[in-house]
Amino acid sequence: MTINRAAFRGLAARGAARVLGETDNMLVNTKDILLEAQQQKKAVAAFNVTNLETVQAAVSAAEQENRPVIIALGERYFPTVDVEGFSAMVRAIAAKAAVPVALHLDHAYEKQSIVRAIRCGFTSVMFDGSKHALERNMALTRDIVEIAHMAGVSVEAEIGSVARGAFSDEEEGDGRLTDPEDAKRFVAETGVDFLAAAIGTVHGMYTGEPRIDLELLTRIRDAVRVPLVLHGGSGTPDEIIAEAVSRGICKVNVNTEVSIAAVAELLRFAAKPDAARSHLSTVMAEVQEAIQPVMRKFVKLLA
Ligand code: 13P
Repeated sequence: MTINRAAFRGLAARGAARVLGETDNMLVNTKDILLEAQQQKKAVAAFNVTNLETVQAAVSAAEQENRPVIIALGERYFPTVDVEGFSAMVRAIAAKAAVPVALHLDHAYEKQSIVRAIRCGFTSVMFDGSKHALERNMALTRDIVEIAHMAGVSVEAEIGSVARGAFSDEEEGDGRLTDPEDAKRFVAETGVDFLAAAIGTVHGMYTGEPRIDLELLTRIRDAVRVPLVLHGGSGTPDEIIAEAVSRGICKVNVNTEVSIAAVAELLRFAAKPDAARSHLSTVMAEVQEAIQPVMRKFVKLLA
């Protein structure tokens, strides 16, 4: 994909101005809230969501705990979610929110998805080159960093690979843990703003005992300065998440636990005697109410 860099820079600068709140106070740059969290030895929850109710639940869970929040949309939902519409909706909700809200593109494999997200005001993007060998991952990530930074958008990348557990909607990963020396080189040579480190968490629910290498996390943290990201928040024991935050994790991604709570609520609703006569607005309001405590639990745990 070729990009007219001059035009993109101009367009992206206008987008970035919006994002940075020069015309109004809508979204915040993800990097800013993660650097602040890093200083405070806290973390920010990034919720993978796709629609109005889930965004509303995430923002109000954050408001209840007076913490910033990251709304994350995965590239895998691009075929079914109107990305520009989603971005506009999140900005409108963020403008009214009592806490800082950032908008993140999660697990993007295609450059064109990243450009699309930047164009419509996402404040950070994740390029996932984890399936590639280190050198190739670095080369691809460098290119994305160059584009995103022109627009003032921050970049997350991943080395090592997060495996997939039960109920997850993410791609399968091979579970390779992150090598601290590779992490150091990767950050220095790509200029990424935050790094997803594979330390044994899985996307989705664990099928056996979680085996999370907190010592490795400490070695990675000692090797790199940028905020570290923990993928696979769902099902990870609370005390491990809290310990990971104290060892340098600044962003925790959560998807599956919220989805499980939503589907369980739908099934509970469907089992009611008069369920078929219900109005969709009632069903969706109940789903929102059911997932909000799940989200709040994570927000609270990271503070
Ligand atoms: P979980 O589905 O385990 O919460 O992981 C989400 C995630 O890491 C998205 O990037």
